[in-house]
Order: sequence, then C-alpha cells, then structure tokens
Amino acid sequence: MIKDNCNNEVQTAIRGPVITFTDDPFKRNLDDAMVYEPDGIIAFANGIITHFGPAGVIAPQLPPGVKITHYGSDSLISAGFIDSHVHYAQTPMIGAFGEQLLDWLNKYTFPMERKFSDKDFARSVAKVFLQERLKHGITTSCVFGTVFPQSVDALFEEADKLNMRIAGGKVMMDRNAPDYLLDTPETSYDETKALIEKWHGYHRIMYAITPRFAPTSTAEQLSVAGALFAEYPQCYMQTHIAENLNEVEWVKALFPEREGYLDVYDHYGLCRPRALFGHGIHLTENELARLHSSGSAITHCPTSNFFLGSGYFNASRAMQKNRPVRTGLGTDIGAGTSFSMLTTLSEAYKAAQLNQSALHPAQAWYLATRGTAHAMYIDDKVGSIAPGMEADIVVIDMKSTPMIDYRMQFVQDINEALFVQITLGDDRAIRATYIAGELRYSKDAIMEGEHK
Ligand code: GUN
Ligand code: ZN
Repeated sequence: MIKDNCNNEVQTAIRGPVITFTDDPFKRNLDDAMVYEPDGIIAFANGIITHFGPAGVIAPQLPPGVKITHYGSDSLISAGFIDSHVHYAQTPMIGAFGEQLLDWLNKYTFPMERKFSDKDFARSVAKVFLQERLKHGITTSCVFGTVFPQSVDALFEEADKLNMRIAGGKVMMDRNAPDYLLDTPETSYDETKALIEKWHGYHRIMYAITPRFAPTSTAEQLSVAGALFAEYPQCYMQTHIAENLNEVEWVKALFPEREGYLDVYDHYGLCRPRALFGHGIHLTENELARLHSSGSAITHCPTSNFFLGSGYFNASRAMQKNRPVRTGLGTDIGAGTSFSMLTTLSEAYKAAQLNQSALHPAQAWYLATRGTAHAMYIDDKVGSIAPGMEADIVVIDMKSTPMIDYRMQFVQDINEALFVQITLGDDRAIRATYIAGELRYSKDAIMEGEHK
C-alpha cells in the first residue's frame, strides 16, 4: 500500500466498463435501478470509493499522478459478490455422495466439524476458504463456524489479515447431534457473548449468533439465542429453516406447541432485522408474511438445494411485491457445490424456471451484490459502486474461456452479456478482486499467500 506523508493511503483508481445498482430492479424498472458505464473510472482511498463516473468526467477531477489501472473493454467491474450463507468448516467435504439433509449431516458433516476443535486445523481450512472467496470475487460472507469457539477465532483472525468484511459465529447445538459436538445453553451463551465482545465491530468483522437449526437446540438454548440477540441487536442471527420436508415434520414433532417452523424461532425472539434464515423452501404464506413484517431475510441457496434434493426455492414468490421478503444469495458450501456466485446464479435461474418464472440477468446480478447486502442491512456499506461505499470490487474477465469468447461475439447488450457470464462462467471469469481498495487476487499474478 502506498502512503503519503500523513500516512493516508494515496488515491488509486481503476478504469473499464462498470455495472452497479442504485436501486432494486425487482421493485423498479431496470433503467431506474441499474447503471452501466461502458468506460468508467472508480477511484478510492483508505478503502473507500471517492469517485465513480464516466472516465471523461472523472479523470480531470483526480489529482495529478493518481495511478489508474486500466482493465480493458473485455472486462466488467462490479461490486464484489456477497454470500449470506456458507459453512467454512464444510470446505473439506464439499461433494459428499448420496444423502439428503438429515443423513448427510450425520454421515459427513458432523464428523468433519469435529476436527475444528483443533485450532491449527481450523486455521488451515479458513485460509483455503478465504483464498477461494477471493478467487471467486466474493468480498463479504456470512459464515457458520462450528460449535468450537476457536474455529471462529481462526476464521476471524485470517479474515482480518485480509481486512475482509465478514460475519460469522459459533454454532449453538445442545441436542440431536453427536456428544462430541454438543454445547449447553449456559456454555453457548458464555462462549457466544465472549466472541461478540471480542469481535463484533472489530475492523470489518461482524458477529452472527448461530443456533444451527431448531432440531439441534432445546427450547432453553433457543431462548438463550433470543436473549443474546436482544442484548446485541446489531449482531446477526443465522440459522436454517424449512429446507427439507422431513426436517419440517421433525420440527413439528419437537415443538408441537408452536404454530409452525418459523413460529419456533419467532417465539424465542429470533425474527427481526439481521435475522438470516437459510433456505426457506417450504415456508407457508403466513410465514413469508411474518418474515416480511419482522424485517428478517431468507438466503436462497440453489446449488445446495439441488444437491441435497431439498427442492427449489420460489424467489419470486418470496419477493412478491405486496410483502417482499429480503432475499439474499448463498453458496451454502459444503451442501452447496460451487464457490462461484456465477454458478450459484445459474442454478438460481434454473430454480426460477422450475417455478415458471425467469430470473432476469440484471436482477440476478443485483441479487449477488446489492440485493444480498440489502438482506444483510449493509447496503449502505457494500454491494454497489458509489462514493462513500467500501471499495470491495470484482473485475470480471468477459472472455475467460474460448467458448465464452466465441459466444460473446453474438451478444447484443449488457443484459445478454451478463447472462452468458452467469450461464457459462466460473472462477476463470474472475480477473481481480479488491478488498477495501487492496488488490487481493489477480488472475494474472500469483498473490502472496495464495494456495495453488
Ligand atoms: N441444516 C442444519 N445444518 C445444516 C448444514 O450444515 N447444512 C445445510 N444445508 N442445512 C443444514
Ligand atoms: Zn447451511
């Protein structure tokens, strides 16, 4: 990082085609929500965007000597991707064969999560996970740790080295899992509180109170989670809901006194702004209305839902205009099968098709950036390109494979170009990733610390 005499980071800038959103294209006409600038400049200093606009307008406003990195016309600069549901500890078991949710958890997930009592192991996985984030242009994530607090420390310590905006938390789980993974209402309260005090608001780190899902918490533990959320309302609360039909039936049997799955969480004070519910495939109309009225959000995890045979989330129903539920996008590694948000969007498109609706490419791009930032209540910080926003940026290589290069000759406009990237693109399409204005990944250069 270059600093001036006052230790301020000297302004730097990047130039090339830029896409960003000023509003929600699910609610407004695309022309009123999306900005496409074929030759734009974005300048930043101290991790914050200072200028954005057409190159001809911005260049004369920059101080002489500002270094401008020019990404060519076969690039597209965007706000970095945001993933609001992912399990870093499942990185080593992505692609585990043959089961649906509850058996998959018992057979593959829990034995893997056991290994995270060893902080060195946790750190080694966190490093791989975070490098893969960068390689896929994901600049913000909301992450499940494991039941072991040291697994969260390892993740946050490594993310902090990259100055990455990240949310995460220790899984709370006091029943229906192997003994070696169980905590208690008391220890989960104490350990979560200590982690919040240590990490929430430290640099770019945010804490997520993390009851895994209703079946693995007793009523006592859910009420502890609610007490923590009331004590720390600026934190997140992340969990799972209505992913799998057997799971929904199980929750009914475990909590017969409640009206349904969401009501279990609601009863314990877990439905409010910054509550992030993974999946939500099998929610009722009343439950969607309650998510809307409480300001809670759903994270749509399509690769995971197809992989585990859970079903296909109806995003357009969730976002219905009379009671839109905040909706984010998640990879849900390791039930999710790809780190790529492009691939995740491609599967979201297919889920929408199965629901007889079409996810427009610009709406999809919004979902992976500003839309998920909105679901997480951080759209004033990340998810779009504008002065004052944090300089978390991805640069797409629009011709990253011979096939995409060939296909791109035939596209007519930016929407078609986006759709080709979504349908055919993967990590090869990520040319560069900036975190708070620092170049942290470049396809053309091996960066320090990168795993091969
Ligand atoms: N429900 C409870 N735990 C999990 C998990 O780790 N992954 C998924 N996909 N669903 C869950
Ligand atoms: Zn999950």
